[in-house]
Amino acid sequence: MAAPESVTPLEHRAVEQAFWLSPASYWQPEHVVTSAWLTHAPFAFWLIDVLRPSSITELGTHLGFSCFVFAEAAQRLGLGTTIAACDSWEGDDHAGFYGDEVYDAVRAVVDQDYAGSVRMVRGYFEDLRPQFAEASVDLLHIDGRHGYDDVRADYTAWRSTVRGGGVILFHDIAEHQEGFGVWRLWDELRMEHPTFTFEHGHGLGVLGVGDVRDERLRALFAADEETAERIRADYVRLGEVVARQGRLEAMPAEVASLHDTVANLSAEIDRLAAAERALSDKLRAVHTSTSWRVTRPLRAVGRLRRRRGH
Ligand SMILES: C[S@@+](CC[C@H](N)C(=O)[O-])C[C@H]1O[C@@H](n2cnc3c(N)ncnc32)[C@H](O)[C@@H]1O
Repeated sequence: MAAPESVTPLEHRAVEQAFWLSPASYWQPEHVVTSAWLTHAPFAFWLIDVLRPSSITELGTHLGFSCFVFAEAAQRLGLGTTIAACDSWEGDDHAGFYGDEVYDAVRAVVDQDYAGSVRMVRGYFEDLRPQFAEASVDLLHIDGRHGYDDVRADYTAWRSTVRGGGVILFHDIAEHQEGFGVWRLWDELRMEHPTFTFEHGHGLGVLGVGDVRDERLRALFAADEETAERIRADYVRLGEVVARQGRLEAMPAEVASLHDTVANLSAEIDRLAAAERALSDKLRAVHTSTSWRVTRPLRAVGRLRRRRGH
């Protein structure tokens, strides 16, 4: 009988060396809302697992996806982390402007699941900054407006709130469309700091502040190109699962919206059919009217003249 297939020592070592994965990397987020950040959830879960932050600040929360991921990880890991979610909840010209319903939707999730950990701090980043002490945060997530000057201003004003050993995340570092300049700041920062770069999901930059204590994080920042490619490939795959979950969860709403469109179109068809019936009735009434009958000989003469070319 053939020996059962077993893990070779080489494969075992490769798995052991996959320091960038933990059970948290495979979690599926509880709250999947519309976001350009969906594919970063698996890495964020892993990051919270290794960093074990007691305090997180987020600049740019919008519908709350990244904030919910941080909060869920902290909760599942039993960390007691506090998360300050900062946003004007007005939107901007990149994310689009929106009304109070977005704030209300985030508030509903926070009240239901993360009341003890997430503090929603509504206002402009520049006005909120004095509320945050120096070296008081372990993880800062910068995801506000994405112009070079905007993100540079956010980084410059807020970096000193991060403790040594902490991490700063930048979203959209791979976005090169008109008006986006996070990539430019990232190119500057990666020259001077320990960093790791994800290109998928519009790009996520991971920057270590001061002495990085956790050895897995140190290994992440020190990864050679081959290892970095494996890390990126694994998180692209894991991220795609979350994105698929997002698409599936969005389907009932899309189907409902299609139903609405079909219902509106049917109502419009009924309205047009009724208008057509009313017009036909009017036309019939004209044709059967006395004046129409009395003027019939005149119309006949008119037709004859037209035929003869008069
Ligand atoms: C890209 S969205 C954040 C996305 C979110 N992190 C997610 O997971 O989907 C950017 C948000 O930053 C907010 N924002 C941009 N500039 C801001 C500023 N200077 N002060 C306060 N909020 C700002 C906008 O209102 C918008 O909701």
